[in-house]
Amino acid sequence: MQTQTRPLISESDLARRVRELAGQLADDYRDLNPLIVGVLKGCFVFLADLVREMAIPLQIDFVRLASYRDSTYPTGAPRMLLELETPVAGRHVLIVDDIVDTGHSLDLLRRRILQAGPASVRICALLDKPSRRGAEIAIDYVGFTIPDEFVVGYGIDFAEQHRHLREIRVLEPQADQR
Ligand code: IMP
Ligand code: MG
Repeated sequence: MQTQTRPLISESDLARRVRELAGQLADDYRDLNPLIVGVLKGCFVFLADLVREMAIPLQIDFVRLASYRDSTYPTGAPRMLLELETPVAGRHVLIVDDIVDTGHSLDLLRRRILQAGPASVRICALLDKPSRRGAEIAIDYVGFTIPDEFVVGYGIDFAEQHRHLREIRVLEPQADQR
């Protein structure tokens, strides 16, 4: 099995949309010193670009969830692999993720954070793939809504490959021609 990719969202479209989102977030969270919670690993490029455009006081922490295992199919219930270090009681929490698919992993994270008594919890996702949504979960800030295709790049991987690509590309599985 070989893999090929084709472009879906260009570097300049990503940069423009990330700036817009950052502006909206800066307006909404000004004076609230939000706690930005990045979901590793896929958030790392998006979060880095987003927070550098926000220009308000904020803090950053990370969690790690596992829901996919080197495969384009979910392996079942998501698990937390890394917990938050920062106390969230009374904090305005903004979860930042790369892509929401079934929504199960963010649903788990959101419930976990809510148990710790935050002042608010909202979700910001670069990409939203609503067609396979299983969990009822509100995404407060969405970069782009995309069709049900497997995407890579801008932090997002397939089997840990392609995270470094500057644009979002669609992975197209190809039958081996030999
Ligand atoms: P969910 O629990 O199904 O919403 O899982 C979302 C997570 O699965 C994302 O944060 C990604 O890590 C991964 N994922 C979902 N769709 C894709 C994709 O198209 N490419 C790569 N990873 C994906
Ligand atoms: Mg993820």
